[in-house]
Amino acid sequence: MRHLIDIMDFSAAEIDELIATATDIVAHPEKYREKCRYKKLATLFFEPSTRTRLSFEAAMMELGGQVLGFSEASSSSAAKGESVADTAAIVSGYADIIAMRHPKEGAPLVAASKSDVPIINAGDGGHFHPTQTLTDLFTIHLEKGSFENLTVGLCGDLKFGRTVHSLIAALSRYTGIRFVLISPEELKVPSYVKNTYIKEKGIPYKQTTSLDEAMPELDVLYMTRVQRERFFNEEDYLRLRDSYILTPEKMEKAKKDMIVLHPLPRVNEISTEVDKDPRAAYFRQAKNGKFIRMALILKLLEVD
Ligand code: CP
Repeated sequence: MRHLIDIMDFSAAEIDELIATATDIVAHPEKYREKCRYKKLATLFFEPSTRTRLSFEAAMMELGGQVLGFSEASSSSAAKGESVADTAAIVSGYADIIAMRHPKEGAPLVAASKSDVPIINAGDGGHFHPTQTLTDLFTIHLEKGSFENLTVGLCGDLKFGRTVHSLIAALSRYTGIRFVLISPEELKVPSYVKNTYIKEKGIPYKQTTSLDEAMPELDVLYMTRVQRERFFNEEDYLRLRDSYILTPEKMEKAKKDMIVLHPLPRVNEISTEVDKDPRAAYFRQAKNGKFIRMALILKLLEVD
């Protein structure tokens, strides 16, 4: 039995397989409509979500399966003090696969240690978000055709942005990758991410506070929201939240074939005027999430 806790739980070859399956699902959805008949997905979301939870649920429904779960801790027995480990042990008796989001780093790993069915980390605190990374990789594959020789700019809250940490790890395996890390001083990439996936792998990178300066060299710009829910005080959040706002004027400085990604939700960091720019790929990216999650469910359930 496999779990997906960290994107590095899957090899690059396995990610290629998932992308191939997702591509086939997009082309031939009818082939997949009964693949998970009589299977159940439980979505245990102890934190808010729109895309991740609903795309997982849509994915299971489109595979012919069924879904159960909760969308906030207060409506589960966590509110009465039940542990993550006990919750996972119990729900693994009700469902064939579990997607879990939790504010505490490592909670899905604890769940996996007690579960009889595959656990998918749907975001754990400010740590990792591997299925967002699968979505990001599928989108880069569709939009750019390859993961190699790309200069990828990551902009915004690189400290608490779990999608950033997982994406850096995943991209660190491809040839010719270069990172431009764009953030305020206070929101730099944590050293465990920088050391493990960038420095120790000898990947070229640059750290800057200037999005304007970085724009012309980027093939992919990955914008992120400042993660209000992870700040210890509101004052710091208010000071940092508008550090970067992508506008049509800034887009003029970018390559003609650069793409803009964002895991969403967006608050203020991308002007809605950018949405009509064909390089704005973030709504396409959100849609891709359903297909790659369908491929992931099939893989973890070992459905042919
Ligand atoms: N990208 C993402 O995780 O979005 P949600 O918080 O809406 O699931």
